[in-house]
Amino acid sequence: MIVQLGKASVTWTRADLEAKLAGHARVLIDVGTGDGRFVYRSAGAHPDTYCIGVDPAGERMREVSWRASRKPARGGRPNALFVVASVQALPEELAGLAHTLTLNFPWASLLSALVLPEAPVLEALRRLVRPGGELIALLNQSVFDDRPYAARLGLPELSDAWLDDALRPAYRAAGFEIRTSEIVDGEVPHQTSWGQHLTLASGRRTRLLTAEAIGGSASAAPG
Ligand SMILES: C[S@@+](CC[C@H](N)C(=O)[O-])C[C@H]1O[C@@H](n2cnc3c(N)ncnc32)[C@H](O)[C@@H]1O
Repeated sequence: MIVQLGKASVTWTRADLEAKLAGHARVLIDVGTGDGRFVYRSAGAHPDTYCIGVDPAGERMREVSWRASRKPARGGRPNALFVVASVQALPEELAGLAHTLTLNFPWASLLSALVLPEAPVLEALRRLVRPGGELIALLNQSVFDDRPYAARLGLPELSDAWLDDALRPAYRAAGFEIRTSEIVDGEVPHQTSWGQHLTLASGRRTRLLTAEAIGGSASAAPG
């Protein structure tokens, strides 16, 4: 898989990754991580968790991946990693690792895959997670509330009926049992750059969607 390290991109094998994972109690994978700041902050707040940000736009992760690669005394985060990949082509090296999978304010093909939903993408996300692990997604509900705009983007109405009729069965078939789907009042659980940007825009609504990984893992999880 391709790892962003400052301006450089390097190739890591599963063995390279496992060497870094040793000694960490948990793994968090954040898909559609953007500038990577959420992963950097999570790694600082939870030193026992290995935090992996994934985004196809490697150049946006340059600055934070450079900061993370420094010595811990200078702001380095040895438990943070930034992987260049899209959700449609997730690296096998990440399979079965995540205790927690986060998707914060996805847009474009990542958003539509989650809400249409697209079975191959849900299955690929499920392959990242250990059985019993959690998926936590923060969705910009305001996009869906503007029906003409959402329709132009090919997005459905993100309603309770859509949740029950379309999302729940598709997520279950992919190995995720949806536990929560609610509009968040007040502060959202993850502080991310895009979340802050949306909070500043008045009247924005955020939906919190959580699910548990059920059934066996699609591929063997180490450890
Ligand atoms: C609105 S930004 C949110 C970034 C970050 N999670 C945050 O909250 O600040 C949406 C992110 O989704 C990523 N994205 C869009 N399509 C994607 C895909 N197919 N696979 C993975 N990431 C994707 C974009 O590159 C972008 O970084």
